[in-house]
Amino acid sequence: MTDAPHTPNAAVSANQQWGGRFAAGPAAVMQEINASIGFDQRLWRQDIAGSLAHAAMLAHCGIIQPSDEGDIARGLEEIAAEIESGRFPFAVALEDIHMNIEARLTERVGEAGKRLHTARSRNDQVATDFRLWVRDAIDGIDAQLADTMRALATRAAAHAADPLPGFTHLQTAQPVTLGHHFLAYVEMLSRDRGRLADCRRRMNESPLGAAALAGTSFPIDRHMTARALGFDRPMANSLDAVADRDYALEFLAAAAISAMHLSRLAEEIVIWCSAPYRFIRLSDAFTTGSSIMPQKRNPDAAELVRAKTGRINGALIALLTVMKGLALTYAKDMQEDKPPVFETADAWALSLAATAGMVRDLSPDTARMREFAGSGFATATDLADWLVRTLKLPFRTAHHVTGRLVAKAEAKGIDLAGLTLAEMQAEESGITADIFSVLTVEASVASRLSYGGTAPLRVAEQAARWLAALQ
Ligand code: ARG
Repeated sequence: MTDAPHTPNAAVSANQQWGGRFAAGPAAVMQEINASIGFDQRLWRQDIAGSLAHAAMLAHCGIIQPSDEGDIARGLEEIAAEIESGRFPFAVALEDIHMNIEARLTERVGEAGKRLHTARSRNDQVATDFRLWVRDAIDGIDAQLADTMRALATRAAAHAADPLPGFTHLQTAQPVTLGHHFLAYVEMLSRDRGRLADCRRRMNESPLGAAALAGTSFPIDRHMTARALGFDRPMANSLDAVADRDYALEFLAAAAISAMHLSRLAEEIVIWCSAPYRFIRLSDAFTTGSSIMPQKRNPDAAELVRAKTGRINGALIALLTVMKGLALTYAKDMQEDKPPVFETADAWALSLAATAGMVRDLSPDTARMREFAGSGFATATDLADWLVRTLKLPFRTAHHVTGRLVAKAEAKGIDLAGLTLAEMQAEESGITADIFSVLTVEASVASRLSYGGTAPLRVAEQAARWLAALQ
């Protein structure tokens, strides 16, 4: 959403010492630093929902007349339509979304509008609105995480048996399958969803009715408003209700961890579609050209997903820093809670959409992946395991024998399977021709049948399990 119109008070002259930037004096500066309407107008739906619930409760409890509630509800619905259609006159002078809507309500329905703020403060109002907003954001992000997981699991099922070089230290380690690799991210994103679900469960309590900080002398029904807004219960302590923003921090922390996951996948996409690798190709839909080098296909979307992590990490640190050291309860510092959360929700949603898009778009060069999966002595561990299994050598001894065979092959510029049986037997006399059966990439991955292992059989099982779970 765009910034609210900025209307400095031109009637007041700028301060001589520091007012150069300002068309007007201190009042304009005060207004500019104080106003949050430029960003918190994003809370308008939640603010109206909260006010509707509050007014209904006030009438139910006999605190306002039913006719007042009727006027308030009608006015708020008209305001919703105005905002929806871009006709609402947002005013910086009215500071924030709460006062903009309340002032407009009174303009529209008169006296009844002035009764809405009975037994309420902007402190419990903003805490309620923001919880509702974060809760909606969680639900939206959760659906996108599920969609990204579906994209990954679908590719995993199709490539359950296609070999990919598995790396540690970005050095060839052991062959794995592409499907197994995709499913690793499915697991990570599933935990990201778990963190969001935890956050949602904990945060789903209503601050409404805590009023400024101490509660209210009016006979309100906080259970009623909590229920109406889909909260599990009212918060039990009015000071806590207006003072804490831990739910926003949990959201940001969950975002930072998830963005880190997306960033790692993005980095792999960047590496995999680089010219020396050419493991995958992204279509025109997810690449850009260079203005000078005609051959370039740049994976900008992946790079930007990788980079968004910076903003999201920054947002977490920003809000942690805003909140630390604030004496209870509310302080205006807390108005700065919103931009980091909005920015994070936007960046996270965009990153997920781009990631799901790239996962669906990319075309793997499975032949090339297979070729590299077998290079770099990737099946050396299989050879050592054969020595342990067949000749009953201790693993440490088998490791040494294999190391000498790798050195021998390396010196000759060939693969392990290129050594003759005689050359192998020169290092370990018990070796038989059977050893060659474990040195292929296919045999290597097929043998990794342990639960959670990369054997195509296991990968297909896991992909099917995820696809069923993500229906
Ligand atoms: N715009 C304010 C915020 O976001 C609303 C709460 C104002 N409360 C107050 N006591 N000034 O924090």
